[in-house]
Amino acid sequence: MQRLQQFFLLLLVGAAAAGLAQATVAQEEQTKVAGNIVHYQPEQVHLAFGDNLQDIVVTWSTRGSPNASLVNFARNYATDKLTTVNGTWQRFVDGGKKKRTQYVHNVELRGLQPDTRYEYSCGSPLGWSPVFHFKTPPAGEQWSPSLAIYGDMGNENAQSMGRLQQDTERGMYDAIIHVGDFAYDMDTKNAAVGDAFMRQIESVAAYVPYMVCPGNHEEKYNFSNYRARFNMPGDTDSLWYSFNLGPVHFVSFSTEVYYFLSYGVKLLTKQFEWLERDLAEANLPENRAKRPWIITYGHRPMYCSDDKEYDCNAQLETYIRQGLPMLKWFGLEDLFYKHGVDVEFFAHEHFYTRLWPIYNYKVYNGSMEAPYTNPKAPIQIITGSAGCNEEREPFSHDLPAWNAFHSNDYGYTRLKAHNGTHLHFEQVSDDQDGAIVDSFWVIKDQHGSYPPPK
Ligand SMILES: *[C@@H]1O[C@H](CO)[C@@H](O)[C@H](O)[C@H]1NC(C)=O
Ligand SMILES: *[C@@H]1O[C@H](CO)[C@@H](O)[C@H](O)[C@H]1NC(C)=O
Ligand SMILES: *[C@@H]1O[C@H](CO)[C@@H](O)[C@H](O)[C@H]1NC(C)=O
Ligand SMILES: *[C@@H]1O[C@H](CO)[C@@H](O)[C@H](O)[C@H]1NC(C)=O
Ligand SMILES: *[C@@H]1O[C@H](CO)[C@@H](O)[C@H](O)[C@H]1NC(C)=O
Ligand SMILES: [Fe+2]
Repeated sequence: MQRLQQFFLLLLVGAAAAGLAQATVAQEEQTKVAGNIVHYQPEQVHLAFGDNLQDIVVTWSTRGSPNASLVNFARNYATDKLTTVNGTWQRFVDGGKKKRTQYVHNVELRGLQPDTRYEYSCGSPLGWSPVFHFKTPPAGEQWSPSLAIYGDMGNENAQSMGRLQQDTERGMYDAIIHVGDFAYDMDTKNAAVGDAFMRQIESVAAYVPYMVCPGNHEEKYNFSNYRARFNMPGDTDSLWYSFNLGPVHFVSFSTEVYYFLSYGVKLLTKQFEWLERDLAEANLPENRAKRPWIITYGHRPMYCSDDKEYDCNAQLETYIRQGLPMLKWFGLEDLFYKHGVDVEFFAHEHFYTRLWPIYNYKVYNGSMEAPYTNPKAPIQIITGSAGCNEEREPFSHDLPAWNAFHSNDYGYTRLKAHNGTHLHFEQVSDDQDGAIVDSFWVIKDQHGSYPPPK
């Protein structure tokens, strides 16, 4: 009996102590948050295109919740009257052990003037970011957007970063496209690596829209770090969407919905249906007359010449290209061919590869002399060598006939869409001090579905 009483007493004391401990932690958390203004300072500022061409979305994080998400902007921040836009914030709790918490703020700036430079600062009355700037795209299609495009850039060994910063600061790009695999990984160390990465890219992403798609490295906790930190057009948690830029219709999709089926087969079917609709519409003659080019980007490639990669070679077939194993449902090669996609960007392999125009393992050159002038199938490019801690990947010993050019250098791709007939591509090597190791024109007098393959 006495024993039992003692036991209960002990239990009570234990519970009280635990309660006290919890209260202390909570208090500490509060004083840390409330007592230190630094916790409300905006960080990880980045931009994206909104649902309309001229709309720009500003996204940033704060450690504590300032209960406000504001952007002040003007053409001249120092002298003009500032416009203030009120947005929304969301509490993001990482899935790791520490359940690290941050508040991700989103503000969409609507109705901006085309082709105009704006200066802005984001934050709340408790803390403001430095003043950054961006330029809205010109109205319509008759201009020549320039982009940097790459995948697989980590926090460590982000070898292309310095050069991208310089390029961006010199106003070379209207947008940047990161074709999946960020930070390595955003969820690592209770998402501290994700924070560090987002701070690192702020130097480019706070100045030009940083458009993204998910890669396999974003998979943890149902892609929650990716979904929380980026805010792409549409309402699919940034998993798939499209946007127009000058003469180009860009289509972003998730290759990961083919692999992580445990997060829902529905994502795969929904994306496929959306792709069918989006491409069919973009391929309507009246839309192609306005915006002739359709360019897609998704993380894992359809073809690649890397022996190591289990889903790259002819024996094993990629899900992306052919669809799910055995069933062959939801394959993208047929869909993209049918709707006359011009160029497809991929990453995932840590190298650069340019393919001859290809469909179902056959090369469909425009002609032998000018393979990319009026090509008879889409042109695929793998650009996954921006730099990360997983280092470079080797090529196969026997390169396939569709391999037009490849490079193992760290670097990234530049695209300039001159007009409705001419695209220009460059591959920048960071290893070779910015040398252009590959460049080519794609020229098309006509756009639309390809003829049935012979
Ligand atoms: C934000 O709102 C919450 C809930 O109302 C409150 O507990 C917190 O103190 C507020 N934060 C600030 C900085 O006012
Ligand atoms: C921003 O919007 C929120 C929610 O609608 C509102 O509570 C808040 O007062 C607004 N803040 C400013 C500065 O307009
Ligand atoms: C994963 O997230 C997506 C939204 O991005 C959601 O539709 C899906 O239901 C989630 N899956 C699971 C298993 O929670
Ligand atoms: C495509 O063009 C390239 C470059 O001229 C050439 O090397 C290759 O053999 C061509 N392939 C076919 C199938 O015509
Ligand atoms: C399209 O751009 C190319 C390359 O700059 C140029 O040679 C061509 O004349 C342009 N076409 C038109 C119709 O402006
Ligand atoms: Fe990858």
